[in-house]
Amino acid sequence: MEFPDRPTLFDFNGVSMTKYFTDNWDNIQSFKARPDDIVLVSYPKAGNTWVSYILDLLYFSQTSPDRENSVPLHERVPFLEISIPGFPSGVDELNSINSFPRIIKTHLPVQFLPQSFWEQNSKIIYVARNAKDTVVSYFHFDRMNKAQPEPGDWNSFLQRFVDGKMVFGSWNDHVGGWWEKTKTRSNILYLFYEDLIEDTEREVSRICSFLELSSSTDLKKEVTEKSLFNNMKHNKMANGSADEVLDFKISPFMRKGKVGDWKNHFTVKQNEQFDEDYQRKMRNTDLRFRTVL
Ligand code: A3P
Repeated sequence: MEFPDRPTLFDFNGVSMTKYFTDNWDNIQSFKARPDDIVLVSYPKAGNTWVSYILDLLYFSQTSPDRENSVPLHERVPFLEISIPGFPSGVDELNSINSFPRIIKTHLPVQFLPQSFWEQNSKIIYVARNAKDTVVSYFHFDRMNKAQPEPGDWNSFLQRFVDGKMVFGSWNDHVGGWWEKTKTRSNILYLFYEDLIEDTEREVSRICSFLELSSSTDLKKEVTEKSLFNNMKHNKMANGSADEVLDFKISPFMRKGKVGDWKNHFTVKQNEQFDEDYQRKMRNTDLRFRTVL
């Protein structure tokens, strides 16, 4: 099948988006949540795949051991807002799931989450990653993902990130909007990629507590081990290689998996300019990130 063209960005209710995430908008907004749904939210490139794998293993590795060897992760954890011609939409995939809970991936900013998830008080896990590593990861991802706009060169991509003109909008608005929401809703667990790297098992335990899962220590250790970067990278069902829109000849999906790779991309000048803009934008929030460990 000929793959559709790379999309262009446009303003969608104040957020930069592409048609692949807005074409199915009415069905996304009227999506019917179930109370036991688990929603996994992040800005792109914050570690959504990693946490989705952890969640899937916690819920299903013991009851359906074949699942992890036979079903690609992106089918086990469908992407709510995706709708690319020639592929099933995320909404259709989610509506056909009979196992429970459903684990639902989304990159929607807080104001776009379908109302039904709030009404059902579904459990929501948000994953955030520092801006510098996020933009580097996003750059390489847009190079290899044929369903994303052309990234251009690194310098212009970085400028576009600072301007908030990325698919799913401004990083600051996204991480900040969801952070503020945690102050009024107890059904959100806010995780950091850097914490996951620092101590994966500790974060797996936090996830279990939040989800009220009484997983054994052995299971938590097994899940931690399976989700290590190198193990996921070599797992065809979890490393993105089953996803037809990704071109591994350009860059792997599981690329580096590190905190601080931004230092290999930012020039001194880019870093100074970025920091200045960042400090201004983050002045009014108590949200803090680590860019090195
Ligand atoms: P890098 O490009 O910096 O390597 P998402 O799943 O939200 O698109 O995020 C992808 C980023 O998470 C990529 O970052 C990827 O390598 C990283 N990642 C995925 N699984 C990981 C794991 N098990 N451990 C550490 N990083 C992981």
